[in-house]
Amino acid sequence: MDRLKDKIALVTGSAAGIGLATAQLFAAEGAHVYITDVAGDAAEKAAAELTAKGLKASAMTVDVSRGQDVTALMRAIEQQHKKLDVVVNNAGINVRTDFRNMSDADWVRLREVNLDGMIRIARDAFPLLKASGRGSLINLASIMGHRGMRTLAAYGATKGAMSALTRGLAVEYAPFGIRVNALAPGFIETALTERVLRIEAFSKALLDRTPMRRFGTSEDVANAALFFASDESGYITGAELAIDGGMQAAL
Ligand code: NAI
Repeated sequence: MDRLKDKIALVTGSAAGIGLATAQLFAAEGAHVYITDVAGDAAEKAAAELTAKGLKASAMTVDVSRGQDVTALMRAIEQQHKKLDVVVNNAGINVRTDFRNMSDADWVRLREVNLDGMIRIARDAFPLLKASGRGSLINLASIMGHRGMRTLAAYGATKGAMSALTRGLAVEYAPFGIRVNALAPGFIETALTERVLRIEAFSKALLDRTPMRRFGTSEDVANAALFFASDESGYITGAELAIDGGMQAAL
């Protein structure tokens, strides 16, 4: 129950999906959680539900692709808490299209959120993570950063970059007591994957190749994030935890 007692945690893109489940679990484990999302109303609602239960949560509208939003977020946390113990760099999008038909605008948006946004969060959170003395930065990568699948080439490129960033930052941030790790989920049932998982033939073929014979849930990923967020992972940095990773069995 108290694995994150007295910790301050930020989860980006936490009004829905994996981010929401992670924020809810962190709050239940005693953290004061910052629920931030480009969907500000949904973030407010999620935070209100937690505070109504006596848990600690704050909400802010933050589009990670906008530098001024991220600056305002870090300033607010600095003023209120002077530190950040955990950052889950989760906000991400997908643009599903054959690579050869992808527009410049599609790629720019993908890059602005999945790469520029995540890199900005990883950089701008540094002073507050350092102030924690036991900071933990958790990046949402993906199995798609390591395996190929039609319509997911550009998305996979952003996620592969997050894996590379994780390894580099793990080395650079370690002297400051900050652990940097990544989660690389396979298919998790959220709004991001809803459309493709509704295609029965695809869904069945994927399940046949998935070791656990079911898709992952947001709660599965949240539990893995909880381990990296907690002091139990105090020695681990630069690791990438795969969640189910069904595609591995396919290849
Ligand atoms: P989701 O679509 O269910 O939720 C994403 C949340 O991020 C939404 O609340 C959305 O409003 C928010 N968001 C989108 N753009 C934003 C921005 N510019 N700034 C702030 N918030 C923004 O997605 P899901 O599935 O929960 O994915 C979360 C992360 O996990 C993403 O980085 C995704 O790439 C990664 N992931 C997801 C997998 C899956 O199968 N669902 C598998 C592997 C990785």
